[in-house]
This record gives sequence, C-alpha cells and structure tokens, in this order.
Amino acid sequence: MNGFPSILEGIEDLNREQVEQLLQRSQELKLGSPARLPLKRKISVATSFLENSTRTKLSFTMAIKQLEGIHIDFDAEKSSLKKGESLEQTLLTLNYQGIDICIVRTKDSGLLTEFKERPPIKMINGGDGSNQHPTQALLDLYTLMEEFKVKRPGDLKGKKIAIVGDCTHSRVTHSLIDLLPMFGIEITLCGPKEFIPKNLPNHIKVMTDLDQCLRESDAIYLLRIQTERHGHQFDMTSYNSDWGINIDRIKKLGYEIPIFHPGPANIGIEVDSAIVNSNLWKAHKQVENSIYVRMAIIEAMITNGDDNIGARYNKIFNTQGNSTHEESKV
Ligand code: CP
Repeated sequence: MNGFPSILEGIEDLNREQVEQLLQRSQELKLGSPARLPLKRKISVATSFLENSTRTKLSFTMAIKQLEGIHIDFDAEKSSLKKGESLEQTLLTLNYQGIDICIVRTKDSGLLTEFKERPPIKMINGGDGSNQHPTQALLDLYTLMEEFKVKRPGDLKGKKIAIVGDCTHSRVTHSLIDLLPMFGIEITLCGPKEFIPKNLPNHIKVMTDLDQCLRESDAIYLLRIQTERHGHQFDMTSYNSDWGINIDRIKKLGYEIPIFHPGPANIGIEVDSAIVNSNLWKAHKQVENSIYVRMAIIEAMITNGDDNIGARYNKIFNTQGNSTHEESKV
C-alpha cells in the first residue's frame, strides 16, 4: 500500500484509496488469507495504554498474535518515563530494541502530533482524549459494510447514520465525522445540547428530536456518557427516558434498525438490556471484526517500508579529520 503513514493519529492521515485497501484486506484476512509480512523475522509490536481499555487493547493483542508477532506490553507507569526520560527518548529506545510499532492510548488529545515530522517509531493511536480513535472508526465502517452487505465503502453512499449521545467528548465520533462522509455516508448527531460539538462541518446534520432522527436513519450509533472527560457532574436522572434506546422506541419505528456501539455500553442509561440481547445489537460484531481490521492496519504499517523511522542521530562533525562522534540533534 503506497504512502501508508508512519504515525496513524487520525483519519486525516489516510486517503480514500488507503481506507478502501485496508477494508478489502480486512475482509481477506477474515476469510483466512495469510499475513503479508517480512519472512525473515517476527514483527514486534508494543502496546502502551495509559487509559483503561478492554476492547482496543485486547483486540490489538489478538491481532498481533494472529500475525504471529511478538507483543510487548509496555507499562509506562513503571518505566523510566517516571525518572524524567522524555517520551521521545523512550520511543527511540523501543525502536532501537527492535520494536516495529507502538500502539498508544492516552488521555492527552493530540499527543502523537509532535512526532509526525520525524517519527521515533511507527505509532498507532489507540484513542487520545476526545480527539481521535481511527482504528475504531475503520472497524465500524467495515461492520457497516458487512451489515448492509456491500463490497466497497463507496457502496454505502447515501446511507444515513444517527450518532446519538455524548458526541462532544467522543473521539470515535470525531473519527467517524472524518471517515464516513469520505464515502458519501450522511451523519446526523443527536443528543442533549451540551453533547453536540461546536464548529461542525456543514455536511454534518444536528437534530434534537430523537424519534424523528431515528425515523430518518438507516442505522443508529450509540454513545455512552463519557463522564471521565467532563469538567462537571452531568445529571443523568432523565437521560434514559429522554435519550435512551429501548424496545418501545424501536417498535414505534415499525422496522428493524441496526444499532452500533463502540463500547463500553452503560446498560440502563443509553441502551436497555432488551436491545443488547436482541439481533439489532451489532456491538459484538464490531468487536469480532476489530481483530481483522487491526491486523490489516499493522500489516500495512509494517510493509510500508519507511526507512527514516528512528533515524534521528546525525553526525555533527562530518568533515575529514574532525571527530567521528555521533550525537543527537535534540
Ligand atoms: N471502543 C473502545 O475503545 O473500547 P475500550 O475502551 O474498551 O478499548
């Protein structure tokens, strides 16, 4: 795959062709295609999760194992970062230890941006604050294709997706807003006023009448209230009756509609257990597919073959007769 980024921070790092190829490759891997990786050595991938995770961390771990790679669980809390080593020097250390990719989850939005110009190691964003969660959005698009039985993401053109809940604090929403319209999928955000981001692109619709929004949609994408990213206490007393998805609400539609959720779901708040136990609930499919999509992403990043990763050490005396010592530019 040409020009795959060395640092996948957000959907903006990918172009339409790369997304199409990733999803095509995910499908091949799901059907049992062998991995396309260097034959002479095993790949090594580190995960560094500085914020809690079940799905993303374990699905990346499974993806690495399915690719027969070496998985290193880097515990930043117990690392030399705590002795004052910079993150850049830490990442360079991982690179010189032979680790190909570091997958990072952090509370800090935009943490990976500073490394893009001269990457100390290849990196994948596993979710940064409320900024981006690109691998989640990609696996969501893959699962949408599967649900609507289409071969290419462009075949979903004109489908209408309602993203319901705490959109402001949702990194998944920000990635979906960048990804789905690339293929003509229409997004409507719906939720309490304080949960709708400001400065949205013109093509993103906003609705405040949930039942009307659902009537106009082909699929629902539910979000939990992400209290850990709120600056204040949110009153949830009437949230379930005002914004929750339950069987009565769906029955009123008169047709079956697929319901997606990135997880973790707070059952009894944004969704009722009867929905989670029904055939409408697609979150388990999203989890299942996540492994193939993340395998495809790791494979694409490894085989991209960028030579400049970690190459930060330049000779500062390079004329004849001068010292041959090499020192870091930083
Ligand atoms: N969807 C998602 O990011 O879930 P985790 O927080 O469990 O990784």
